[in-house]
Amino acid sequence: MSFAYGHGPLVLRDVELEVERGEFVAIAGPNGGGKTTLLRLVLGLEEPASGQIELAAERLAYLPQRAQAGVDAPVTVRELVAAGRAPRARFLGPLRQADREAVREAIERVGLETQADRRLSTLSGGQQQRAFIAKALAADPELLVLDEPTTGVDVEAQESLAALLEQLHRELDVTILYVSHEFGAVERFVERIVLVRGEVVFDGAPADLPGVWHDPSHAHA
Ligand SMILES: Nc1ncnc2c1ncn2[C@@H]1O[C@H](COP(=O)(O)OP(=O)(O)OP(=O)(O)O)[C@@H](O)[C@H]1O
Ligand SMILES: [Mg+2]
Repeated sequence: MSFAYGHGPLVLRDVELEVERGEFVAIAGPNGGGKTTLLRLVLGLEEPASGQIELAAERLAYLPQRAQAGVDAPVTVRELVAAGRAPRARFLGPLRQADREAVREAIERVGLETQADRRLSTLSGGQQQRAFIAKALAADPELLVLDEPTTGVDVEAQESLAALLEQLHRELDVTILYVSHEFGAVERFVERIVLVRGEVVFDGAPADLPGVWHDPSHAHA
């Protein structure tokens, strides 16, 4: 498929991509390369200008880029995660026992048990990101789509987040699309990297990436 915003130039050209159920795919590429746009197309939030997109998963969870921007809201970790459960719970009703259990489990999975009742705004950036991932997990998704969840956190937090996702992928059998424009952190954990720069310029195992792409200065060029 190809895509343009309004009557603007093509932002994605002749993209052909097939993701199997249960894959963990990293999507990387420079700023403005079209990564976020690609995710939004996959999720049905944008329509392709030509071509088509087929989505077999029904339960989707999307962690948009800069989702943490709203952390000033006076909510606790548990309340945030419960909001992720809400689409599956009764509309506006109180959470049932099973839902509360799912919320607790999601919080435990990301290792925030001891912070569960703290205000989100009092957590570190890396902890906040884990809280948002727990929110996504609480929806029990078949497809988990994360747009640069590691922006602005240190390398150590990036790597521990990538390791956490790899573990979730293994244990929960969830399909993951993970956008990051920094390699390093995810390379060791994924079996497949798709590089997007207006089109798909690479699709394969991290080990087969052309050497030039390992150099961050080129990845951002
Ligand atoms: N709502 C919009 N309207 C018009 N153009 C847009 C819109 N959103 C994105 N674009 C343009 O589409 C192109 C791809 O943007 P996109 O956000 O998908 O890139 P990205 O790879 O996610 O970049 P980043 O790494 O900075 O997040 C860019 O040239 C951008 O300016
Ligand atoms: Mg983006």
